[in-house]
Amino acid sequence: MDIRINEVGLRDGLQSQGKTLTVDERLALAEALAGAGLRYMEAGSFVSPKAVPQMAGTEDLFPRLPSPERIQYAALVPNMKGYERAVAAGARTVNVVLSVTETMNQKNINMSLARTAEVCEQIVARAAGEGVNAQAYLAVAFECPFEGPVAPEVVARYGALMRDAGAGKVIVADTIGAADPAKVDAVLERLLEQVDVARVSCHFHDTRGMALANIHAAVLAGVREFDASIGGLGGCPFSPGASGNVATEDVALMLQSMGLDTGIDPLDLVPVVREAERLTGTALGGKSFRWLSRQYGKTRGGQGDDQ
Ligand code: COA
Ligand code: ZN
Repeated sequence: MDIRINEVGLRDGLQSQGKTLTVDERLALAEALAGAGLRYMEAGSFVSPKAVPQMAGTEDLFPRLPSPERIQYAALVPNMKGYERAVAAGARTVNVVLSVTETMNQKNINMSLARTAEVCEQIVARAAGEGVNAQAYLAVAFECPFEGPVAPEVVARYGALMRDAGAGKVIVADTIGAADPAKVDAVLERLLEQVDVARVSCHFHDTRGMALANIHAAVLAGVREFDASIGGLGGCPFSPGASGNVATEDVALMLQSMGLDTGIDPLDLVPVVREAERLTGTALGGKSFRWLSRQYGKTRGGQGDDQ
């Protein structure tokens, strides 16, 4: 495998949906994703169900996730309580989230930036001691919705902090989809001075239609792991595709076209997008979905034709 695709639809995608899926429905989506060859997924978060009702019941989901022996399922944890809940539910990979601006941490998890950094360090260190893989998201790494543009030096500094704490991965997250390829270059140039590229991953939203271009820039910089969400799930349920994560099928197709192996056949994702549409009641699909649907219809028959 040349490039690892980490599916985040079950967490980043579902948490922003107007409709809250049941644990059975979330499991159905996980099974469809597993069936299409996804081997890395962020399956849910252990946050306050008052803050994010869509993620309630994640402890019931984790023990039921398919093929845990060959699929790595990560759990997002905002604090030590979340870490403990995740480990108790059987999670072996946890993701901490360090937003790199003060206001974003306050709005997201009601903690200061300094306190969040401390808590993330503590969780990562504890995970290392308990044989749990910990990964660190650097959220709003390009622009904060409250404080505006973020300097690449800031991202590099928090990347180094998480590296020192022992994070297995440092994930640069363009939470609001404000990056462009030049900004990706600038951030990665600084970050890669601090963190080995093999431990860096990128998370792009497609709000401004630049997510694939950003992934391409990151590939050229040597990054070999990307987050993506099936059908572009995420963002505002009333404007499909407007601000969701980059669609998994778009990423898989672009990388396949470039001759890079992801272990995923984008055509296999067509029925998964349809299943995600059925479950969420939302029209989904990345930029390539119509084309992929037609190819699916031609080569696999049945209901592939797009309207
Ligand atoms: N899981 C479940 N419940 C949690 C929790 C966790 N990880 N952390 C705290 N809580 C509970 C507390 O036990 C307390 O419960 P109570 O009201 O029944 O006593 C309540 O939440 C408030 O706890 P407190 O420590 O005061 O937290 P808070 O109100 O400042 O909220 C978070 C902090 C982190 C729990 C909340 O902001 C949150 O879950 N945010 C997640 C946001 C998110 O998922 N963003 C997207 C991904 S980064
Ligand atoms: Zn995101």
